[in-house]
Amino acid sequence: MVKVTYVAHDGTRTELEGDPGDSVMSLAIANGLDGIVGECGGSMMCATCHCYVDEDWQAATGARMDGEEDMLESAVCEVTERSRLSCQITLSEALDGLVVHLPEEQV
Ligand code: FES
Repeated sequence: MVKVTYVAHDGTRTELEGDPGDSVMSLAIANGLDGIVGECGGSMMCATCHCYVDEDWQAATGARMDGEEDMLESAVCEVTERSRLSCQITLSEALDGLVVHLPEEQV
């Protein structure tokens, strides 16, 4: 299992466990987590799965995927260098303990 901690805008932390191959978005949706909408189901056609990767995990999660940058321009909240579409972050054992921060709103 791969543990992911989601930190809401108000500081609330939620720990979830997923399987390698799940995305950070799909794990959140499967567990009914507020703060990630995932309107397009993970096909990189919305930006309602916007998250900020914790700075300690930026290297491990790697660079943005092709097209991700463009889609992030539609994000409601500020986009920073730590911004990612959470549907494009695939869980693996290397990401066990991952921490992501959620924007104040997604839509
Ligand atoms: S769920 Fe739509 S871009 Fe990630």
